[in-house]
Amino acid sequence: MDKKLQARAPIYEALLEMREKRIVPFDVPGHKRGKGNKPLTEFLGEKCMSTDVNSMKPLDNLCQPKSVIKEAEDVAADAFGCKKAFFMVGGTTSCVQAMILFYCKKGDKIIMPRNVHRSSINALVLCGAKPVYVNPQTHTGLGISLGMSVADVERAILQNPDAKAVLVNNPTYYGVCSDIKKITETAHAHGMAVLADEAHGAHFYFGENLPLPAMAAGADMAAVSMHKSGGSLTQSSFLLVGDGVNQNYMRQIINLTQTTSASYLLLSSLDISRRNLALNGGEIFRSVCRLSEYARDEINKIGDYYAFSKEITDGDSIYDFDVTKLSINVDGLGLAGIEVCDILRDDYEIQVEFGDLSNVLAYISVGDRERDIERLVSAFLDIRRRYKRPRSDCKKYEYIPPDVVCSPQEAFYGKKRRVALAEGIGGICGEFVMCYPPGIPVIAPGERLTGDIIEYISLAKSKGCLLTGPEDADVEKINILEE
Ligand SMILES: Cc1ncc(COP(=O)(O)O)c(C=O)c1O
Repeated sequence: MDKKLQARAPIYEALLEMREKRIVPFDVPGHKRGKGNKPLTEFLGEKCMSTDVNSMKPLDNLCQPKSVIKEAEDVAADAFGCKKAFFMVGGTTSCVQAMILFYCKKGDKIIMPRNVHRSSINALVLCGAKPVYVNPQTHTGLGISLGMSVADVERAILQNPDAKAVLVNNPTYYGVCSDIKKITETAHAHGMAVLADEAHGAHFYFGENLPLPAMAAGADMAAVSMHKSGGSLTQSSFLLVGDGVNQNYMRQIINLTQTTSASYLLLSSLDISRRNLALNGGEIFRSVCRLSEYARDEINKIGDYYAFSKEITDGDSIYDFDVTKLSINVDGLGLAGIEVCDILRDDYEIQVEFGDLSNVLAYISVGDRERDIERLVSAFLDIRRRYKRPRSDCKKYEYIPPDVVCSPQEAFYGKKRRVALAEGIGGICGEFVMCYPPGIPVIAPGERLTGDIIEYISLAKSKGCLLTGPEDADVEKINILEE
């Protein structure tokens, strides 16, 4: 990484210059630097509104960068150690979809773990490719799904030599990493590309002693949520690509779904955040790791909680663990993770990332302070004192292997009928059902609905999980394919 280059932030610099010039706007956005919308300007501030501008020659254009955005992309590529970094304003969802649409067309196969985020399967709805799922291993004690074992990936590759690519979560939401280097070597040896979903791994590129980032592992592409662990504004992400990827074709793919009015708030936030991490990332993530380790130790001392870390690694499906993720198993309390999550918010004004049936995930990142961590630890202590109950009521998450009957696209666009959930057993599902977060489908279009899945959906509902995906927002009814 070239530190002198990293001190630059070309989009931010161009915006500062534009502000100095006091250009009179006869273009969109119609709020005209905030003057036409006083309530919004009072809420967001004049600086913010005057930065909300449209593309113009001095600011370049995200659809076909030639000047400052291109320069900023080059600086970002140097920071991430890749050939090209695309600035993305549609979240990591847009990065994941661009990666898949790049490699897969109708009827193509792609190998992926079943615990992918919905954005991956959504991409299959769009392009008509078929998933070959590798069952992620499950940690029965913790009730979480893990990474992919190299042997399982290799088997999937050998059984599907015509697959175009392998997609890897690096890491999972809980911080679990597969052996991405071995998986990449194996996939490449069979002529397949490797795509990494690094929605939760932006910090791997800037910290020390963290799991291996995808581009360093030799992956072909990575979708990186700068807005999650990297500190930029919500919705801003980087799509990284390596050697040998046709960048101009990738630009065309991105432009299929990208807005023609990219927000300069998002673009400048990516530029400034990249600069911050490139210059100060070592120190920042040393502190994040220290805070996270401290919280883990203190929470484990309370009893009945298990804040897990690297000790769960096994050299295979838990090849590595991201210690910044503060994932806490709460089975010992006799409460579901989602219940603890709600108690934290309702009684202690603490919002954690999410809770599932057995665990709570607190996201520790660039913005956390010691006193906030102390507050979190105290809340866990108090919750145990006030809410602990016998464990009998706890049901563990169990991986339910999907029965994929047809492609997500065929199912999504197929002729469907809406039935009561229980009546759908045995039918082919025509839509998604997922708990959000984490946004991993419980069932995806094209998969057979089983009693186990319905039981899981009912349990998640009863514990207060936010279920999304189906046309019926209450998930009382489900769309099943006409057979
Ligand atoms: C693993 C994973 N991939 C992709 C995404 C999509 O990211 P975004 O919300 O930035 O679109 C998420 C979001 O939570 C995620 O958890």
